[in-house]
Amino acid sequence: MTRTMETVFEASRKGRKGYALPKLDVPAADCGAVLGDACRKEAPRLPEMAEVDVVRHFTGLSKMNYSVDDGFYPLGSCTMKYNPKLNEAAARMAGFALAHPLQPEDTVQGALKLLYDLGVMLGEVTGMDAFTLQPAAGAHGEQTGLMMIKAWHESRGEGHRNKILVPDSAHGTNPASATVTGFDTVEVASDDEGMVDLDSLKSLLDDSVAGLMLTNPNTLGIFEKHVLELTDAVHKAGGLVYYDGANANAILGKTRPGDMGFDVLHLNLHKTFSTPHGGGGPGSGAVGVKAILEPFLPAPIVTCRDGRYTLVGAEERPKSIGRVRSFYGNFGVLVRAYTYLRTLGAEGLEEVAEMAVLNANYLAKKLSGLYPLAHKGCCMHEFVLNGGPLKSETGVSSMDVAKALIDAGYHPPTVYFPLIVPEALMVEPTETEAMETLDKFAASMEAIVARARSEGPEAFHAMPESTPISRPDETTAARNPVLRWQFED
Ligand SMILES: Cc1ncc(COP(=O)(O)O)c(C=O)c1O
Repeated sequence: MTRTMETVFEASRKGRKGYALPKLDVPAADCGAVLGDACRKEAPRLPEMAEVDVVRHFTGLSKMNYSVDDGFYPLGSCTMKYNPKLNEAAARMAGFALAHPLQPEDTVQGALKLLYDLGVMLGEVTGMDAFTLQPAAGAHGEQTGLMMIKAWHESRGEGHRNKILVPDSAHGTNPASATVTGFDTVEVASDDEGMVDLDSLKSLLDDSVAGLMLTNPNTLGIFEKHVLELTDAVHKAGGLVYYDGANANAILGKTRPGDMGFDVLHLNLHKTFSTPHGGGGPGSGAVGVKAILEPFLPAPIVTCRDGRYTLVGAEERPKSIGRVRSFYGNFGVLVRAYTYLRTLGAEGLEEVAEMAVLNANYLAKKLSGLYPLAHKGCCMHEFVLNGGPLKSETGVSSMDVAKALIDAGYHPPTVYFPLIVPEALMVEPTETEAMETLDKFAASMEAIVARARSEGPEAFHAMPESTPISRPDETTAARNPVLRWQFED
């Protein structure tokens, strides 16, 4: 059933009120005398509604959201896993939620200790020597890491190194971050198995290369089995190696980027370390570095001196690349990550990785009868289905399948990424899903493919039918969004 809703402007009725105030029993203030020209000449045209209609309107809007708390959300590369409510309770504790970033240090020792301890714990999990928690998102972390790589080369008189190598399977933010930081991006080809082609990489290495950005497991959900050779080859050529750890679910407690030879990485705390995300909400792209890059970390950093936690600014850290964000990062996200780590502990983290990989392989096996897998063999935390054959056979595209899944009650997988797989459907079940959920999803996929075969593409063109808007022109919707209500009179 399609759910439609009026906007608050359409629902507005002249003179209807959502409040009742006592009669004014003091002289009305003269706005012009106080505000001068800044005083409004006419009252704003705000919607006029009764309280009950306002409440129903916003409750209705909230019900149109699809979230992990609603149902299965296998959006590959996004790790939409369930976020324990305990993390929310911790982030809402008054001492954290109401702390002011400019409070004297002595009054926020607990908050500073949390930041310090979180950095230490992330260091243990990743094998890195020091962390900054300032970056507000994964892409922001990438930029921060690349700025440090640049500063490191410059400090050694090698500022001419202007190339960053990025595999063709990389997340789009990798080349974008390299460009924003002033590097030239050079693409590295994948081999037949979907991993970085070692020979192609070696042929690109010379003294113009500043570094390599690598995602491992990569966006096909495969662990780069030549990772040690890759990092070693880049080091031998004088470059540094960046680890895109946005999707670290599969390796937690199992292996560490620091031990694979990476010099700098970012983690998406809003994915792997359990913070609700999506829709551009607050995130954290915490960045970890090996000791050689520690002096370049953004300032301030939290330090512990004689049992007291303190912020050390740029005046004591002359090589720092400076601030990359106001204050100390998205603190609420950091509290959630801290709570997540403390409640799971080392054993729990390992179990996260095991379940993430088990669930992905279970679902991949179930779906492999419907779609060819982009990569044969075991996957890590996610896998990619090739929707090309179904489209050739029936005319039903991966986008059609994604829209049909919305009507079946699911958030669809990521479609058309990675770019190296035609009609890609990238599925990441995450560790928090039960086997029954995966079975039901697989059954829905089976029903959709059966319908594609029996009814062809026409049956899909009106889907989704359960949403207020079916198929917007996605490019126009993203580039020219209409965000203002236009009054007719
Ligand atoms: C592999 C990878 N790298 C980087 C990012 C960018 O993270 P963010 O969206 O927080 O900027 C993502 C996000 O999905 C990702 O999957």
